[in-house]
Amino acid sequence: MRLSAAVLCALVAVQAAVLLAAVSSAQAGELEVGYYSKKCRGVENIVKWHVSRALKANRRTGAALIRLLFHDCFVRGCDGSVFLDKSYENPHPEKEAPANIGLAAFDLLEEIKAAVEDRCPEVVSCSDILIYAARDAASILSNGHVHFEVPAGRLDGYVSKAEEAQAELPDSTHDVEKLIETFAKKNFTVEELVILTGAHSIGKTHCSSFRGRLSEPSSQITPAYRDLLNYKCPQGSNPVVDNNVRDEDYDVVAKYMPGFTSRVRKIPDFLDNSFYHNTLAKIVTFHSDWTLLTHKEALDHVHEYADNGTLWDEDFADSLLKLSKLPMPAGSKGQIRKKCNVIKLY
Ligand code: HEM
Ligand SMILES: *[C@@H]1O[C@H](CO)[C@@H](O)[C@H](O)[C@H]1NC(C)=O
Ligand SMILES: *[C@@H]1O[C@H](CO)[C@@H](O)[C@H](O)[C@H]1NC(C)=O
Repeated sequence: MRLSAAVLCALVAVQAAVLLAAVSSAQAGELEVGYYSKKCRGVENIVKWHVSRALKANRRTGAALIRLLFHDCFVRGCDGSVFLDKSYENPHPEKEAPANIGLAAFDLLEEIKAAVEDRCPEVVSCSDILIYAARDAASILSNGHVHFEVPAGRLDGYVSKAEEAQAELPDSTHDVEKLIETFAKKNFTVEELVILTGAHSIGKTHCSSFRGRLSEPSSQITPAYRDLLNYKCPQGSNPVVDNNVRDEDYDVVAKYMPGFTSRVRKIPDFLDNSFYHNTLAKIVTFHSDWTLLTHKEALDHVHEYADNGTLWDEDFADSLLKLSKLPMPAGSKGQIRKKCNVIKLY
């Protein structure tokens, strides 16, 4: 009798310890491939189905997803903090930071989240859904060349502050030293900075994000490209241009850079190493892109990835994966939201 009571006590203690370990490891952000295989079977297929459909309608949405991964994970780790809308309690969320200009694909993520909630309510975090979706986008936009498995088990955070986003994210006017410092704070090397910036082979940018480029000297920007940007930017109040000149309107390229017309693509937003060719030719939108040429080690890597597209595909996948593992600040609490744009109240 006494013995079995002791055994029972021990069992309860073991169970409690196991339970505690499970809770704290979730909070420590230990991620696992196939995390939802029992909790929400098929979730990765649901995400992929919605992403494929959205990208068939508009490949640009894929660029938006990849940028969202970067902007979510660099600020408080990958915790869905970028999704939170402003509220009475939180009037200035990350979305309001100038560095977050042009973020998109929020509707698609809510659509996916709603589909996942239908299947398994309050089981899959918005932060995990974003990483799955960005991974699928990178794969589709690269014709399958950029691929990786996503470890999951992230939680959605409670905190989202514009000033934090502004402080942690890089700015397109920054010089290479400042970019290196910004990435080093997140434990990313110069090489990884160069690898990740290759994402600027896709997507679009507002003219306000590269104003200074319109008058930079020819040592920093190819004059014909500068003329092209100067032609596009006064059209409308703050229009967008393509990050990659080969995605620009054929007529505009024919007018300003006739030697480039053969490179203009019918299908835009192809994710590949063309960013490095464009950078070496000084045909890039941002000062921050061009500035990679001014640092010995960064320049060596620009050449390395210009020379080997396969190497970039692989290293870009590894670097996105590393981004996707950035943890929340120590001691942060998390939850599984019902909708991605609001915190769940109990
Ligand atoms: C190195 C520092 C970086 C700076 C200064 C920078 C800055 C910017 C800016 C200003 C825009 C245009 C926003 C707008 O005007 O609408 C942009 C677009 C974009 N960025 Fe970056 N970025 C950097 C690194 C990255 C990284 C690491 C990634 C992803 C791995 C990334 C992915 C993208 C994508 C895909 C777009 C196009 C988004 C769209 O079309 O919706 N960028 N970036
Ligand atoms: C970077 O690495 C250091 C040392 O391993 C670690 O203490 C720190 O939390 C890491 N920072 C981030 C943002 O992951
Ligand atoms: C390019 O990189 C790939 C992947 O790392 C490697 O297998 C290949 O040998 C490289 N090609 C050249 C020409 O260096």
